[in-house]
Amino acid sequence: MLVDSRLRAYRDLVESRLDELLPSPTAVPARLHEAMRYAVLGGGKRLRPLLVLASAEAAGGAPSDAVDAACAVECVHAFSLVHDDLPALDDDDLRRGRPTLHKAFDEALAILAGDALFALAFQIVAGSSPDSAKVAGSLKILAGAVGSEGLVGGEVLDLENERQGPDPWVVKTIHERKTGALIGACCGLGAVMAGASREEVDRLLRVGKMLGLAFQIVDDLLNETSNLADIGKPAGSDRERGKQTYPAAFGVEAARSESERLLELALSEIRETLGDATALEEVARSCVVRNF
Ligand code: IPE
Ligand code: IPE
Ligand code: MG
Ligand code: MG
Repeated sequence: MLVDSRLRAYRDLVESRLDELLPSPTAVPARLHEAMRYAVLGGGKRLRPLLVLASAEAAGGAPSDAVDAACAVECVHAFSLVHDDLPALDDDDLRRGRPTLHKAFDEALAILAGDALFALAFQIVAGSSPDSAKVAGSLKILAGAVGSEGLVGGEVLDLENERQGPDPWVVKTIHERKTGALIGACCGLGAVMAGASREEVDRLLRVGKMLGLAFQIVDDLLNETSNLADIGKPAGSDRERGKQTYPAAFGVEAARSESERLLELALSEIRETLGDATALEEVARSCVVRNF
């Protein structure tokens, strides 16, 4: 099957599995479940789940074995966006072209729906495979990527360094943690679910971290140079909040070429993988070559 139709099929698989895995909107507490579904369904590029499935394939496994792991990552991602948009963090009103969760519902529910999505992600991984070694390996990768040395730690550094003046080392560290860690985990999880060797898992983790850093650099570039209609979230907000960004620290042109350099490095590692890497190459390109 051509790579585009394969990726469309993967996206459909993820959408329908997410719908099944999320609690019913009528189960008590209904508003919490509605809020969780609002956060996860109906929008988003689904880049992280696609990376999980394409990495499983690149590592020589069946993407279908990695669908639950892919959905778990999307729940973590949705939790991180809901909390990132809260007034105590970035205080944003729009996400994916519609009101953020605390605007559509309320702040308490946004905090609690985020918490519940975080827990749901680990519940999903726990049941993601009959092979307990794969489950244990996945839990370790995902928890490590989200915790204080990964996404959550990155969010803290992002907030602590607002209005501190651009610093190249600080911005790289923030981006590697708040975004690179989870995107790295996506590729690692795909490899684990494919039953790949330690070496192959490590290679894909490395690939994912490079793509994650490149992805966040492009997010910074879009915030600086694009607009709300195209990206579905406020543009110019990084500059307003004095965020540490690649364009602020290095300039727009240097930031763009760094994202392209990282993509090329990632692609050369991807070509070393043992399975069919065509879908992964395509998803990797879409981390950098994108306008939303
Ligand atoms: C937004 O991620 C947050 C960042 C890490 C930059 P995405 O751009 O993947 O968000 P959705 O899921 O497509 O909305
Ligand atoms: C994205 O941070 C990282 C996480 C949500 C963990 P940003 O604050 O830079 O992303 P956007 O611009 O709100 O999507
Ligand atoms: Mg933020
Ligand atoms: Mg934000």
